[in-house]
Amino acid sequence: MVPIKSQFPLDQLNTLQLKSVADSYIEIKTEEDLKQLWQTSERPLNWFILGGGSNLVLSERIPGLVVHIGNKGRALLIDEPSAWTVEACAGENWHEFVQWTLSQNIHGLENLSLIPGTVGAAPIQNIGAYGVEVKDVIESVTCFDLRTGAFCELSNSACQFAYRDSYFKQQGAGRFVVWKVRFKFSKGSPLQLSYGDVRREVEAQNQNPTAIDVAQAVIRIRESKLPNPNIIGNAGSFFKNPIVNESQFADLKKQHPRIVGHPYLQNQFKLAAGWLIENSGWKGRRLGPVGMYEKQALVLVNHGGATASDVWKLAQAVCEDVLKKFNVTIEPEPIRW
Ligand code: EPU
Repeated sequence: MVPIKSQFPLDQLNTLQLKSVADSYIEIKTEEDLKQLWQTSERPLNWFILGGGSNLVLSERIPGLVVHIGNKGRALLIDEPSAWTVEACAGENWHEFVQWTLSQNIHGLENLSLIPGTVGAAPIQNIGAYGVEVKDVIESVTCFDLRTGAFCELSNSACQFAYRDSYFKQQGAGRFVVWKVRFKFSKGSPLQLSYGDVRREVEAQNQNPTAIDVAQAVIRIRESKLPNPNIIGNAGSFFKNPIVNESQFADLKKQHPRIVGHPYLQNQFKLAAGWLIENSGWKGRRLGPVGMYEKQALVLVNHGGATASDVWKLAQAVCEDVLKKFNVTIEPEPIRW
């Protein structure tokens, strides 16, 4: 097993590029190393499990052991007439994995191109974009249970997926290391073009689009409105889109006819938090070294040198202004360490 490092800087391992130092840090690449670490660790349930660091707000000091998941590998397990079954290790980069499936002529993940982070993080917050959520194609998740020190398999339903949520963020929080994810893609599924921007972008290029055309359209759209975390620190959408009931939506629509919301599950509406934030005056506005991005108000960006407290100060100011103006509560999406 590689040695545990002390006082390890995490600045390069979180996409918000916050200054942060872990008391201890280790990168784990094999099942054997993970088991051995568990056996020798006093409090495995206190580990901080790090993937791509793209959905985290890190404090300046992380008081414990950060376990960075670095296992690699991906494979087509079953190729049957109606479906492909694919498995990928948690430490794989998400976007590279999506592009690899497309290079194998496997489709189903094209709408989720260019999402930062790792395969292992995908089920935790049920990543989603352009009409697809990863829950739609996950068959099961192989986890290491920090309570028992054994590997276990959680089926799709056991993961209790919901919008930007799962068992791993609720009752299972802190208990599991996601180690591998198994996907099942139906060969008969049509391309998902329900999202207007994607359909227009695809159709402008090609009347008979392929999954690769869709991926390229999604990449172009994302590049045009989302900041590249290698250039400007960010964690994607910083807030979840809030859900309101039908009568709240009707009231809001009366007061703010241009408000953006879409039907969601039964008698509910999902509001565009980006619209609420923009119309509270925060689009492109800064507070100290952080601000809300000028092209997509839902994304909080680090203009340089920010710490977690700068991030939370801004998040609180934005939440308060949205609440004052619209009487709607918005919640941060990234996890706080
Ligand atoms: N909008 C504004 N002002 C803004 C931003 C958005 O008015 O500054 C309006 C847009 O005009 C549009 C609506 O809000 O009508 C929705 O905007 P967009 O299509 O950009 O999507 P979103 O709801 O803001 C969600 C996801 C994104 C995902 C996109 C595309 C959440 C929290 N975010 O954003 O996910 O890429 O849909 O499907 O659900 C992420 O999670 O990191 C992420 C980027």
